[in-house]
Amino acid sequence: MKSLKMAVIGCGNIANYAHLPNVLKTGQKLVATCDIVEEKARQAAEKFKAEKFFTDYREVVELKDLDAVIIATPPDTHREIAVEAIKSNKHVFLEKPLAANLDDAHEIYRYWKKSSVKFAVGFCLRHHGMFKHAKALIENNTVGEPVALWRIAIGTAMGVLPPMGWLTDKKRSGGMVVENTIHMIDAFRWFAGDITSVSAHYKTERKGISIEDNAYIVFTHQNNAFSSVLQSWTATHTYESWGIVGKEGTVSVKGYVIGSMEVSGKGKGLEEVDIKEDPIVMYEKEMEDFVKSILEDKPVFATPLEGLKAMEAAVAAEKSSREGKIVKLPLIDY
Ligand SMILES: NC(=O)c1ccc[n+]([C@@H]2O[C@H](COP(=O)([O-])OP(=O)(O)OC[C@H]3O[C@@H](n4cnc5c(N)ncnc54)[C@H](O)[C@@H]3O)[C@@H](O)[C@H]2O)c1
Repeated sequence: MKSLKMAVIGCGNIANYAHLPNVLKTGQKLVATCDIVEEKARQAAEKFKAEKFFTDYREVVELKDLDAVIIATPPDTHREIAVEAIKSNKHVFLEKPLAANLDDAHEIYRYWKKSSVKFAVGFCLRHHGMFKHAKALIENNTVGEPVALWRIAIGTAMGVLPPMGWLTDKKRSGGMVVENTIHMIDAFRWFAGDITSVSAHYKTERKGISIEDNAYIVFTHQNNAFSSVLQSWTATHTYESWGIVGKEGTVSVKGYVIGSMEVSGKGKGLEEVDIKEDPIVMYEKEMEDFVKSILEDKPVFATPLEGLKAMEAAVAAEKSSREGKIVKLPLIDY
């Protein structure tokens, strides 16, 4: 099978853990690495056998012999890098969130719509075994049409936030909900359809940060299902679960991407479903899917439209918390 020439822009945590190895694992050629910190770009190029490394993404997107870029930089940089990549006619895999704010996200969407590039947003849960199984249970009517969905996401490693400086800076990350909860907002949309209204409460408990670190959000969906997220980044231990109550059955998970899944439904007693999957697998599958969409001219798993709609719901949650009222979607003119 033909392989693609790819470059990775942003050689930090997620690129080193997932995207750089997965470019090679899926049989693609890594042409270049790029990071504003030269040492990171150089080290990644050496370790993953890229021909060149750069510190300016513009030089990367302008490379003639390049098919696609993977952008794994902080959210506030996504708009300018993604737009320049589209203008240079390169296919794009962009880490979530689409951007740090709704205007930037909308701009990426508008450029993509005018283009013919394949553009995937890194909503990796769509490639996780438990999430795919839940989607199949909805579609094969074991769980059926969703009625109520939930996610409880309490705690990050004994209350210690990840070390990247940009994460706790609202302008750079978009906040906890835009940067992190967005994974589950996309999953809720995937399971239950478009979000029509949002009601939320945000709090910032930790001193010296500009993002919310606790949020409780309720979404309503187009078929009248409702979904909720309770997320805290200040808890002193971790407690996680998610699930779906459908018209015909229920699926529940103790955990998130690692956990135990239980299903019950029409003519079916409670049973445990054994899906023990290393989280790295979902990142491999999303890369395979992105490559396939280019080589076989197929739709990508999550387009900038999905990225924009999830972003819009996240931004609406903040507006709801700030204004103390239910916010109806859409907020923008598509
Ligand atoms: N899908 C997932 O599960 C997942 C997990 C973690 C992070 N992410 C997302 O991936 C992105 C990166 O997160 P991370 O944890 O790897 O962050 P990170 O801070 O570890 O890495 C980001 C890298 O980008 C570099 N960088 C910053 N601006 C740049 C620019 N203009 N040009 C080139 N390089 C630049 C930084 O020097 C850094 O090395 C974020 O959007 C984050 O939300 C997704």
